Amino acid sequence: MCGIIGYLGERPATPIIMESLKRLEYRGYDSAGVAILNEDAHHTSVVKSASKVDTLIERLQEDMPTGHLGIGHTRWATHGRPTVINAHPHTDCTGKVMVIHNGIIENFAELRRDLEQRGHVFVSETDTEVVPHLIEENFRGDLVGAVRAALAKLRGTYAMAIFSQHDPDLLIGARLNAPLVVGIGEKEWFIASDITAIIPYTKKVLLIGEGEMVSVTPLGPEVSTLAGTAVKPKIIEVKWDVAQAQKGGYVHFMAKEINEASETVSNALRGRLSDEGEVTFEDFALTDRQLLKIRDIKMVAAGTSYYAALLGKYIIEDLARVPVEVEPASEFRYRQPIIDENTLVLGISQSGETADTLAAIREARRLGAKVISITNVVGSSMALESDGVIYLHAGPEIGVASTKTFVAHIACLYLLGIRIAAVRHRIPPERLRELTAALKQLPGAVHDVLESAPAIQELARTYARYQNFMYMGRGINYPIALEGALKLKEISYLHAEGYAAGELKHGPIALLDKGFPVFAIATASQTLEKMVSNIQEVLARDAPVVALVSRGSQVLQGMTVDALEVPAVSEFLSPIPNVVALQLFAYFVAAERGCNVDQPRNLAKSVTVE
Ligand code: G6P
Repeated sequence: MCGIIGYLGERPATPIIMESLKRLEYRGYDSAGVAILNEDAHHTSVVKSASKVDTLIERLQEDMPTGHLGIGHTRWATHGRPTVINAHPHTDCTGKVMVIHNGIIENFAELRRDLEQRGHVFVSETDTEVVPHLIEENFRGDLVGAVRAALAKLRGTYAMAIFSQHDPDLLIGARLNAPLVVGIGEKEWFIASDITAIIPYTKKVLLIGEGEMVSVTPLGPEVSTLAGTAVKPKIIEVKWDVAQAQKGGYVHFMAKEINEASETVSNALRGRLSDEGEVTFEDFALTDRQLLKIRDIKMVAAGTSYYAALLGKYIIEDLARVPVEVEPASEFRYRQPIIDENTLVLGISQSGETADTLAAIREARRLGAKVISITNVVGSSMALESDGVIYLHAGPEIGVASTKTFVAHIACLYLLGIRIAAVRHRIPPERLRELTAALKQLPGAVHDVLESAPAIQELARTYARYQNFMYMGRGINYPIALEGALKLKEISYLHAEGYAAGELKHGPIALLDKGFPVFAIATASQTLEKMVSNIQEVLARDAPVVALVSRGSQVLQGMTVDALEVPAVSEFLSPIPNVVALQLFAYFVAAERGCNVDQPRNLAKSVTVE
């Protein structure tokens, strides 16, 4: 969802805002715009583009506005098509107040009607435009007061950055159910949707809490509630570095991020799993006693994280024997879920900001459940609003389609499963020893899969001409089939479905013919023979088959399938190497088809609206 950046400082604002917008583009990329307060403070330059940030940058390079205060926005359209007029920043009748916004103002229609009746002239179709007009109406010489009064009239969600020619030394930010942080540099400050935008400039980040606003002046930031009560700032030090948020020689971020999978597993495990199999998390917060009291677990998530959660059910139920239910967060939150203080709710989210997942964990806490979030972003809303957090330690993920963070989620879920199982004495010492040793070898297995990228690419070239794909898996690899299909459809726009292999014969097999390939996950497992039969059933319908098999396996010998070998690991741990192979396959198919892999159409990485 829309990316926001604001700058106030001693350096020229435009190049910093341009660079930050590039880093924020994964949040939305259908139009973009900037507003820079010129040196003389009597004029504001507004430049917009109805397409991606690059077009905006070209325009800015032709005629670069100079000034030390500015805001920039990259949009994921909700109200109004992606046109120049609808691109942010938006302004009031005087052209002095500039506003950028991420979120939705739900009562904008009635506000707009009232404002128009009072003579305000609107130019765009957006919900955001009511905000500068409301500020204009409430301005009596005090911009902060006017913003406060305007925000009090809004219903909905927002992260905003605002400035006005009325006060050339003031940059204002505010948030309600949408993310916003303040970067603190040397005599310069940044307001941004997330830390990825500002890591080249500073690692010191002030976290704006829910329902808070910040006024930044050359004296520094002051935080208050929307109602005006001063708030003590929460400042954290971010560990990500700039190189992690650059392509590092790869054509796409997605390729780079898939290739980081081995390191990602190591980072997720580092310092958390002793050789004896003892698991410790830094910010976990739940005591052994509290863990023992848990009667059931519910996991809530969206998209790829939902499939990680499904996998978590297999992992935790197997290891800890606690019943686990998994539900898309968007369903959970409106369903009056049956939970109480003996339920542990796990929020699974790469960004920690997905609106539905955030709302679901809030509902869970309201009902008395303990909540742990597993997320990649330190200081994200979910991290702040949970009882405890398990961080993925995966570094920034820029490609819109999640890859390395899916892998990191699974690694963390193994650890969590072990932790809960150990407290409940559910894991025999022998199994714990074996599992610990095998987990520590997992980065090596993933490395092997990555080495086989050329073979996967060759196969992807052959298969890139098909329009439909079926993925099938069994047991713990069933969620991997779902994720494989999702990855392919989101970046290549091909139709792909994931199925439990045993379910294929109950309907979807009707779709199959020679133009409808099936990707079968046929690595070593207790149900491998069943999977082989399912492959036979598919071949009997003339559908081409790609099969993921364990290295050296002979099970598919004599069958006309395109086999891709992955290292032989236990079935329980196979989802990680297997998914990396599927991610590479999806990537190469999409790249072969010339798709914009890092920024697939209609998608945004972090979805902060419902
Ligand atoms: C968006 C992204 C997906 C992602 C989902 C959940 O839809 O396009 O790739 O899986 O949000 O995001 P989260 O940050 O909660 O994991």
